[in-house]
Amino acid sequence: MADLLVLYYSSGGSLRRMAELVADGIERVPGARARMRTVSRLAKNETPTAESGPPYAELGDLEECLGLALGSPTRFGNMAAPLKAFWDGTGLLWQRGALAGKPACVFTSTGALHGGQETTLLSMMLPLLHHGMLIVGLPYTQPELNATRSGGTPYGASHFAGVADDEPVTDAERALCVAQGKRLAEIALKLAR
Ligand SMILES: Cc1cc2nc3c(=O)[nH]c(=O)nc-3n(C[C@H](O)[C@H](O)[C@H](O)COP(=O)(O)O)c2cc1C
Repeated sequence: MADLLVLYYSSGGSLRRMAELVADGIERVPGARARMRTVSRLAKNETPTAESGPPYAELGDLEECLGLALGSPTRFGNMAAPLKAFWDGTGLLWQRGALAGKPACVFTSTGALHGGQETTLLSMMLPLLHHGMLIVGLPYTQPELNATRSGGTPYGASHFAGVADDEPVTDAERALCVAQGKRLAEIALKLAR
């Protein structure tokens, strides 16, 4: 089995729900398995996730997995600091080019419909590009991308969670999360051959 890393941070649960859907998409591909990991909170007023969620990610997870799905909530239009801090600790991998050539995709969730999904997704790609990872987008061959009235972008799956962070994941958003995981796994396995 080839492992694909689903690395996310979630304080309210939206990203966790999305990560499970992305993992579902990965596991629909024969030979692929999702490895779920999270990162620890930084600020004291953040809700911790790992106590009831997956283990904290280690650098070895990035190295051992064939590809990466990275999920972050939008924080002021950007990636959440706990995930950014994790990437800031990957310098040794970068020096060795350990992730160069591996496929990666990104997904996010926002409180406002126009609160920065695209800016967050694009900024999440920057450390991945520095590592030499191959960005896997979400093409318009997925019909939900044109049909969605909430989240979903060609840069990666997204979810409009509402001000209270409690909007359910819509059918279109769900389909796009699953499609993204499936596409990542298919491409990772092709590249590995
Ligand atoms: C400090 C902070 C900053 C945020 N910044 C934004 C923002 O710029 N735009 C937006 O639409 N939502 C923003 N949000 C809302 C979250 O992105 C949104 O609730 C997301 O769904 C949270 O994901 P989670 O439930 O996985 O933690 C912010 C939330 C917090 C706590």
